[in-house]
Amino acid sequence: MSVMVDIKSVHKSFGSTKVLKGIDLQVRTGQVTVPLGPSGPGKSTLRRTVNHLEKVDRGAISVDGTLIGYRRSGDRLHELPEREVLRQRTRIGFVLRNFNLFPHLTALENVVEAPVSVRRRPRAEAAAGARRLLERVGLADKADACPAQLSGGRQLGAPPGRQALGERRR
Ligand SMILES: Nc1ncnc2c1ncn2[C@@H]1O[C@H](COP(=O)(O)OP(=O)(O)OP(=O)(O)O)[C@@H](O)[C@H]1O
Ligand SMILES: [Mg+2]
Repeated sequence: MSVMVDIKSVHKSFGSTKVLKGIDLQVRTGQVTVPLGPSGPGKSTLRRTVNHLEKVDRGAISVDGTLIGYRRSGDRLHELPEREVLRQRTRIGFVLRNFNLFPHLTALENVVEAPVSVRRRPRAEAAAGARRLLERVGLADKADACPAQLSGGRQLGAPPGRQALGERRR
């Protein structure tokens, strides 16, 4: 299977605190990878580098064959303009621990918002896609429910059977 996320020799410090010290990680298409460990060594920082929310000091990250946050010219990397980074981010999904759902929108409307606002998809087409996604994670019957009416796992869109993980995170 092809490599989807390719992290090469990534270094990152905050001031004098060295957080990522040469991380190499390849995640293949369809593979589930869980950075696991005590609080504070840099799991979230690593995840944030994947869509360039965090700039790396050294190393490089590619997603689906595309270098993220930079363009290569010879052996130098030049940071991309924000507009280009934002375009790259539209292709990299990200679920936050504390959901960040719109509380006044239904489950369906929450899923529809990004494809319509960011990718300029027609609303009806986005709604059809959103219904398929809700169905995939066992939430078809909750399409019109508001986030406050859903359990923690369901707010994360965890597939049935994995929702206990989401519940524990509350
Ligand atoms: N923006 C920042 N400025 C300064 N230090 C930071 C910043 N972000 C993270 N850190 C520090 O970097 C280290 C790694 O933080 P990070 O949040 O990546 O840890 P983590 O492994 O995700 O921890 P947890 O398991 O608690 O979520 C910590 O020492 C943290 O204090
Ligand atoms: Mg963390």
